[in-house]
Amino acid sequence: MHCDQTLSELRDIIQRKLQDLANKTRPESLYEPIRYALAQPGKQLRPILLLLCNEAVGGSLEDAVDAAAAIEVIHTFTLVHDDIMDHDELRRGRQTVSRRWDENVAILAGDGLLVMGYERLAHLPPRHLPVLLRLYSRAILEVCEGQALDKAFELRDAISLPEYYEMIEKKTGRLFALACEAGAILGNGNPAQVTACKKFGAALGRAFQLQDDLLDVIGDEQTLGKDVGSDLEEGKKTFLLTHARMHANPQQRQELDTLCSQHPLHEAAIREIIQLFDELGTLAAAQHEIDACLTIASSQLGFLPSSNARQNLAQLLLKLARRNH
Ligand code: IPE
Ligand code: MG
Ligand code: MG
Ligand code: MG
Repeated sequence: MHCDQTLSELRDIIQRKLQDLANKTRPESLYEPIRYALAQPGKQLRPILLLLCNEAVGGSLEDAVDAAAAIEVIHTFTLVHDDIMDHDELRRGRQTVSRRWDENVAILAGDGLLVMGYERLAHLPPRHLPVLLRLYSRAILEVCEGQALDKAFELRDAISLPEYYEMIEKKTGRLFALACEAGAILGNGNPAQVTACKKFGAALGRAFQLQDDLLDVIGDEQTLGKDVGSDLEEGKKTFLLTHARMHANPQQRQELDTLCSQHPLHEAAIREIIQLFDELGTLAAAQHEIDACLTIASSQLGFLPSSNARQNLAQLLLKLARRNH
């Protein structure tokens, strides 16, 4: 299909850029894990969104490709550090950096990736540089805020849904919103288009993290390429747990808490938790929230002129709605 062709071409462009960035070799203890983290491509959603939003407002690929590479490298940094914080072993179908080497190596590799991503911004068109530097900096700081909330919530019995949404809007939504906003700015979109792209990204990011919470429970580890059940084991306050605890009677809540406190959490326990989530209407509620976020995202596309790129954004959204990894 023509659309997929375009998307796969964009993916190749991004991946080549990332490989070019990972060209230093010494000391091996720093650059080997950095190359390892960059070598295995993920879904590359953020750079693709950036490039499509850029194109959708009439921008050229050349002006946006460094910002796209930057956001993917910065995203990779967040994953390397996130896997330390979440004690995970599997990422993109391979061992996490912290498991393959150790946590100290992963901390430094993450630091290196963040700076390498930032350095790419120096290659942006000078007229856009000050604005984008500020946007990237604010967004990354908010990702850190979201990650801090995520960890702090582990220590609490329960959180409210507004607290949950604040956390995911920061840890995940911000980078999606940044990708779309930065793309539109680099493409010289008008203020209404830039705002629409930012809102599109934020809503998509919200849906994406809700799905991520869901896939942690009902996903298949092989397909997902990440640890399944990790959120439950780590005491994460996901949408699912938050909703379920709110709607459970005392006995169900006790049952849920007992199941979640098992370490390690075996498949049988996960199945029982899924059963409880189902009985409490939690799985349906999560799907309902995801659909609502995707509807908001979709409505923002109406503010962009009709084009191939806008069609690609709409198709990407549909593909994400059905994602299993
Ligand atoms: C994982 O992001 C982190 C979350 C925000 C849930 P992705 O699912 O986009 O990760 P990759 O880049 O495709 O591996
Ligand atoms: Mg994680
Ligand atoms: Mg995490
Ligand atoms: Mg997750």
